[in-house]
Amino acid sequence: MTKLLLISLMLIAGTAIAYFEHSEDSAAEMNGIKFSEHKEFTTKWKLVTVRYRDDSKELRLTYANDLAWKAMKDLTPDYPEGSKFGKVAFFTEEDPAFPSSRIPSGTRRFQLMVKNSKLYKGTNNWGYALFDQKGKLFNEDVKEKTEACAACHQLVPERDYVFSRPFHHSQTTLSASSGGKRSTGISFKQKKPSDFKGLITEHMKVATDWIESLEGPLQKHAFSGTLDEVVPLLLERVKLMGKDTVLYVNEKNFSLVKLKTGKNSCLGELNRPVTIFIYFNGGKVREAEHCI
Ligand code: HEC
Repeated sequence: MTKLLLISLMLIAGTAIAYFEHSEDSAAEMNGIKFSEHKEFTTKWKLVTVRYRDDSKELRLTYANDLAWKAMKDLTPDYPEGSKFGKVAFFTEEDPAFPSSRIPSGTRRFQLMVKNSKLYKGTNNWGYALFDQKGKLFNEDVKEKTEACAACHQLVPERDYVFSRPFHHSQTTLSASSGGKRSTGISFKQKKPSDFKGLITEHMKVATDWIESLEGPLQKHAFSGTLDEVVPLLLERVKLMGKDTVLYVNEKNFSLVKLKTGKNSCLGELNRPVTIFIYFNGGKVREAEHCI
């Protein structure tokens, strides 16, 4: 896909789109975690790992403060009080000087996790914060958003709710799914097309016997970021089951991965074409082609 097309697809947007657009509110604090106190984490903390999301063309860098860094050398760490992680996400684009090399282009957001068992007991002892590229809050309910962060991070209890592992660990231990042992919170149900309402039905016109639907805490506690973060899990499921797969929060908010019919431009091992659709508050925020 050409760069222009990709960018235009990524920019298809409804009106107010929280995760994808910041609010004018400048109170840069979430769950007592201040942006101003953490904004230099990219230079002051240790770089833990780098991840690149092929579906969203997004580069993510994760950093740990000293306490967290020391503890994470253990593969089943128990992070001490005061451990902190910071993650920064960038868009990427082709380097005009060397087209097959992609370069970061524009910060998308900053995410923080702070361990404090007194303050954050209800979210497995971690406090969560999310800021846009200017250090502002996104325009969504803080409580709901926090629950959504914790609902997804609870997928990795054996790592004390932290997904990242230092990238010098061997490749096998880098796998996000602990070698397929993921058990908490992920369950898929087979649903009929008629179980869904609203905008999604547009994408269900092609006859299909069932749709794989992700249920559980991720569906119950979701914010706009969930719709984006969940795509790799959905892709994994499509690959396994060979069925369209969705995280359906409600009529206006869902992430859908559809197997594509017709012309196939996927080659080699990843030869099944899919289309990823993300709808937030009734607006389409992403439509992207992908090979699985
Ligand atoms: C649907 C799943 C999902 C949701 C929702 C989610 N995360 Fe994450 N988070 C991840 C994954 C997966 C990683 C691993 C790195 C990556 O893939 O970018 C991660 C990594 C992180 C990291 C780096 C430390 C680590 O665990 O690796 C921070 C900090 C973080 N997330 C904060 C947040 C905050 C704050 C929120 C809510 C505003 C949030 N996350 C919501 C899935 C999620």
